[in-house]
Amino acid sequence: SNEEPPSTDIITLTRHVLADQFRMGAAATGDLTLLLTAIQTTSKFIATNVRKARLINLVGLAGETNVQGEEQKKLDVLSNDIMVNSLRASGKTAVLVSEELEEAIIIEDRYKGKYCVVFDPLDGSSNIDAGVNIGTIFGIYQIKPESKGTISDVLRPGSEMVAAGYTMYGSSANLVLSTGNGVNGYTLDAALGEFILTHPDIKIPPRGKIYSFNEGNSMYFHQPVVNYLNSIKYPTNGKSPYSARYIGSMVADVHRTFLYGGIFGYPDDKKSKSGKLRLLYEAFPMAFLTEQAGGIATTGTKRILDIVPTSIHERCSVFLGSKDDVLDLAKFYETVK
Ligand code: AHG
Ligand code: MN
Ligand code: MN
Ligand code: MN
Repeated sequence: SNEEPPSTDIITLTRHVLADQFRMGAAATGDLTLLLTAIQTTSKFIATNVRKARLINLVGLAGETNVQGEEQKKLDVLSNDIMVNSLRASGKTAVLVSEELEEAIIIEDRYKGKYCVVFDPLDGSSNIDAGVNIGTIFGIYQIKPESKGTISDVLRPGSEMVAAGYTMYGSSANLVLSTGNGVNGYTLDAALGEFILTHPDIKIPPRGKIYSFNEGNSMYFHQPVVNYLNSIKYPTNGKSPYSARYIGSMVADVHRTFLYGGIFGYPDDKKSKSGKLRLLYEAFPMAFLTEQAGGIATTGTKRILDIVPTSIHERCSVFLGSKDDVLDLAKFYETVK
């Protein structure tokens, strides 16, 4: 047979990030690697609990409401707690912002490091109880020089993030990461307990055939969005219409968009004046990854990564994905006001 023995040169996420730091030379201290190790651990813990959720009474509501007025699921709370505990204990963080916590956490001096982590501990909560893909999203800033770590260290444009990523809990756990030098995807080998490089240098195809919007909101959509959707559903000049795919977990919808191409959108509309997705821990990290993978992320009129946040839980309109598809969408904003 032509079967090969298993490779003895496996590239783990930690090895890959370290290699990146070696390349940067003296500037690298290994702190980011250690912080990413803590994040990997939380993803493994969450992945394990997602797998067992039905068996260990982890489905359903926790009984509390978060600052956005959403009912928290048990897994939202568990995922938030593991992340806060692990990130604090890493000794590498100064400020933490979570979807599930009204206020930012300023880390006490004993544990203080130089990074700020903004995160959505469990994305796609509405899909948990149906066993559909969910995820974790994170973005990382470095505190400003001289800062001891305050809220102003995270009220900065997404373009100033030093790293961003997500883990998708699906048929396997996939961690997708950028430290500002392209995007790589890693798959959790459950037997090893390690994320292994499986998707090196992810690039979004320049054009796709899939659109991913919650069209149930169509009656609220602004005219540019309606017109754009019509243009891909009823194309002229003999082209085929686009396929619709919408999971309702941003992580899963964006992951598919990265691999297959196309456009993901959650626009602001007549009902949700700023849209639904949160700027700091949903839009920014995904926009950072999108640009690093050669795609575009816009509000329709403005580059997402250029937005300067004024509060930690603010929302924004999001369109991201294949360059040509997002440019097509943006044209409708230019022509229809
Ligand atoms: P979360 O579960 O973290 O609150 O995020 C839910 C978000 C996002 O995952 C998804 O893209 C969007 O909400 C889906 O919203 P609709 O159910 O309104 O389509
Ligand atoms: Mn939520
Ligand atoms: Mn979310
Ligand atoms: Mn969430």
